[in-house]
Amino acid sequence: MKLLVVGSGGREHAIAKKLLESPQVDQVFVAPGNDGMVLDGLDLVDIGIAEHSRLIAFVQENEIAWTFIGPDDALAAGIVDDFNAAGLKVFGPSRQASELEWSKDFAKTIMAKYGVPTAKYSTFSDFEKAKAYIKVQGAPIVVKADGLALGKGVAVADTVEQAVEAARDMLLDNKFGDSGARVVIEDYLAGEEFSLFAFVNGEQFYLMPAAQDYKRAYDGDKGPNTGGMGAYSPVPHLEQAVIDQAVETIIKPILSGMVAEGRPYLGVLYVGLILTADGPKVIEFNSRFGDPETQTILPRLTSDFAQNVTDILDDKTPEITWVEDGVTLGVVVASDGYPLAYEKGVELPTKTDGDVITYYAGARFAENGRALLSNGGRVYMLVTTADTVQAAQEKIYKQLATQKTDGLFYRNDIGSKAIK
Ligand code: AMP
Ligand code: GLY
Repeated sequence: MKLLVVGSGGREHAIAKKLLESPQVDQVFVAPGNDGMVLDGLDLVDIGIAEHSRLIAFVQENEIAWTFIGPDDALAAGIVDDFNAAGLKVFGPSRQASELEWSKDFAKTIMAKYGVPTAKYSTFSDFEKAKAYIKVQGAPIVVKADGLALGKGVAVADTVEQAVEAARDMLLDNKFGDSGARVVIEDYLAGEEFSLFAFVNGEQFYLMPAAQDYKRAYDGDKGPNTGGMGAYSPVPHLEQAVIDQAVETIIKPILSGMVAEGRPYLGVLYVGLILTADGPKVIEFNSRFGDPETQTILPRLTSDFAQNVTDILDDKTPEITWVEDGVTLGVVVASDGYPLAYEKGVELPTKTDGDVITYYAGARFAENGRALLSNGGRVYMLVTTADTVQAAQEKIYKQLATQKTDGLFYRNDIGSKAIK
């Protein structure tokens, strides 16, 4: 069987690498991918994620069994609908189902309708009305662009002034273009954040081990929000009772709600949640795997991933199994300056010791074909598994200390929330 993964980051590297481990899979293509993936035997296809008809033609010409869609913008652009219209099998939600991610107002409306716990909110397209609401509600308060904004469209405001400023940026100054033409303003929720992922087919779902992402750029959760600077899975201090509660109060009602709305969900559902004094509440839904959480979850999958996805696509019950013991932890290495401006072209390590895995996100071969160079904000991620979070952390940081990371940076405290 030959497969295609759409996307180019560390998440897609982890998905494609796991698929290639299946004994039934001969070849995994990644479009467009990045050169670091070639080191793991993956085949790059020079077609962008927005070029649906070229991707469809590639799949038809190369007899690809099915395609796995990685990124949210491809889903929001209706790539799954276009593949289905061409009669091709594809793993990911339709444009209508992925609206859970690409419109925060839609997600909030559906949550309210089906009784899913989340922060109280109101949606605005008029700045003066938004400002009046913020003044009545007071701070802290959270202002979110309705649409996709590369993870940057959320302002957690400590003061009324900051919140009004964020609403002004989005509604009057067009900072996020159409994505910010409407804003969701919601109550601030205090608590620790976790991510839950499930493979979904309509109302059937198969929960994965939980993960925790580190979203801020610098140690101690300081600095700007990023796509994610590191993660680990499972989360030892997250009680099973909380996960069970999230399944009952969040995952089950949202999936049956989406079926009732005529938008049945197929693919990976990502639930970003915050554990409040009143139990877990939804911060956001994403309609895809998380990056970098995936790089710590998929190495724990012990079943045949390609068979699992095939079964879900064929409406069969997949047999999904996971490593039961220990913790998988990963640290992202990013370009100095990320998530703002950064330089490219730093030479990257291509070898690690023992069972430390490298997933590349932004990497390309130099002209001479020998060196691998940085080519993005998040560049690569080291991932390993050990008995405890602490042991995994030690392994990763020991490895990182041996690597030349001039022009790059990483957080030194990934996993610490599980230790303290
Ligand atoms: P999002 O892009 O929706 O995941 O939001 C980015 C980050 O903002 C989250 O990871 C949270 O840390 C924070 N955040 C979002 N919504 C809330 C909320 N209602 N209360 C507190 N923090 C929030
Ligand atoms: N790690 C956050 C995300 O993938 O959205």
